[in-house]
Amino acid sequence: MLHFLNVCSLICAVCGSKILGVSLTPSYSHQVVFQPLWKELSLRGHQVTTITAYPLKDPKLVNLTEIDLSVAQLSNQNIKKLVGVSQTNFIYEIYHMYTLMANVLDQQLEHPPVKQLIEDERAKFDLVIVEYLWSTPLAFATRFNCPYIGIISLDGTNTIYRKIGNPTHSSLYPDNLLPFGDKLSLFQRVISFIYEFGYDVYLEGVLQEMEQKVVHKHFGGHYPSIAEMARNMSMLFVDADPIFHHNRPLVPGVVQIGSGSHIAAAKPLPKELSMLDNATNGFIYFSLGSNIKSEFLSLPTIKMILEVFAELPYTVLWKFGEDIPNKPGNVIVSKWFPQRDVLGHPNIKLFITQGGMQSMDEAIYFRVPMVGIPIFFDQPHNIKKMVNRGFGLELDRNNLEKNSFKTTILEVINNPRYRNTLTELADLAQDQPMTGLERAVWWSEYVIRHKGAKHLRSPLLDLPWYQYLFLDVIAVLLLGLLAVLWFLVFTFRLLIKLIKWKIPTVSNEKKSS
Ligand SMILES: *[C@@H]1O[C@H](CO)[C@@H](O)[C@H](O)[C@H]1NC(C)=O
Ligand SMILES: *[C@@H]1O[C@H](CO)[C@@H](O)[C@H](O)[C@H]1NC(C)=O
Ligand SMILES: *[C@@H]1O[C@H](CO)[C@@H](O)[C@H](O)[C@H]1NC(C)=O
Repeated sequence: MLHFLNVCSLICAVCGSKILGVSLTPSYSHQVVFQPLWKELSLRGHQVTTITAYPLKDPKLVNLTEIDLSVAQLSNQNIKKLVGVSQTNFIYEIYHMYTLMANVLDQQLEHPPVKQLIEDERAKFDLVIVEYLWSTPLAFATRFNCPYIGIISLDGTNTIYRKIGNPTHSSLYPDNLLPFGDKLSLFQRVISFIYEFGYDVYLEGVLQEMEQKVVHKHFGGHYPSIAEMARNMSMLFVDADPIFHHNRPLVPGVVQIGSGSHIAAAKPLPKELSMLDNATNGFIYFSLGSNIKSEFLSLPTIKMILEVFAELPYTVLWKFGEDIPNKPGNVIVSKWFPQRDVLGHPNIKLFITQGGMQSMDEAIYFRVPMVGIPIFFDQPHNIKKMVNRGFGLELDRNNLEKNSFKTTILEVINNPRYRNTLTELADLAQDQPMTGLERAVWWSEYVIRHKGAKHLRSPLLDLPWYQYLFLDVIAVLLLGLLAVLWFLVFTFRLLIKLIKWKIPTVSNEKKSS
């Protein structure tokens, strides 16, 4: 009891702190992970200000102030180009993504309410929580001279793990931007190794330059380098858990907030979907996510997909940008479905997905087996892991073919193995002392209480890279080995000389006798 009271008084010591949440990626799915945290922190009496591309706009949250950035979006055209590029050239895909985002970030920071906040001399915060996919927003922590927590809506990329001093290993934990699963072939390990060392050089040498310019333009030319700001991260929240993500050693500064605790219970479906309540045969939900629109598929592919759907004994919901003429009677098309409620419906049989982390989180939470058609970024990696764990199958979007499309769908629906495996794993993932959201709130307040988390800082951040890679130790051992070898050779030669000098005298003596 005493202990409990102590904890309460500690918690109250940070009541009413001022928190700034910055989540700038104009992608709805990312916000699904952040919004519950903004909401929960504000309900606990903190004054939370967010700068976000997708505000909650909930008048009941009186302690939450939102700066709406929906003005700056990635256009459909840009995403389409990105999808095209992702097919051919990984290095250019990343470059293209950074160019687009540097442009979006520039517009966002130009937005008057944001400008005003940056320039407001009286504005003060105790903590900044920033979506760490881009580095520009780290400047908010420097601006308000307070500790910051990085948060991302997927598992950390290896680059971000290294930024907080968490060791990475290219063969055991290939980066989630690489299309590899759990076990790597020799060829994949070579690629992963080159990527691991090449990416940071590319990032710091080329990509971050674009962001550094944005920082200097909007915050001031005297601002420190992005690399310096990155070294100040107090903690990192990743949307991962040890069951669905390859479990890995984590430094205390990394907190896993995954396993779906941010997902609210499913609500009954709206009237226009009430026929699903009667779809006792079951239904399929097909969506390629919030960024990729299904209309990026080619016309013959769309025709093939419709033919397959027509032959299935299930109702199919297809998230598609426009209505499709002459579609089969069992296919319902809409620009938008309440995805969480659809996945939570008791009649759902299968989810056909592009493999975005948030879509998969929701499907896992509601135990819906999946067929994955990955498009780009972390999606190929997520789908490979799903196949490795046995709760779904993968289809290649470049070789979508009628026969395999149909058999794959029917296999995942009719073989109970997929749903059973998923149920077992999801039960395991949810059996935790605290939910991910509770952990995120607790550690946020911890960082406020202690004005950062310097005492948890990973020693790796202060170790020169050549020491981490044992290069100096290997050099010493090599020198030692050389010395020993040299000594052995030297002694050996000396022995030979001695023997040579001895032997002739012996034989000479024999001859003369
Ligand atoms: C707002 O914050 C105050 C404390 O600052 C707290 O007492 C109150 O419950 C909060 N209200 C809501 C709706 O979040
Ligand atoms: C890092 O944090 C320290 C202590 O809070 C602060 O003095 C310093 O200015 C910060 N550096 C950057 C680059 O933000
Ligand atoms: C569903 O079935 C019930 C009972 O058979 C019926 O009353 C209702 O109209 C049906 N709803 C739809 C949307 O078809």
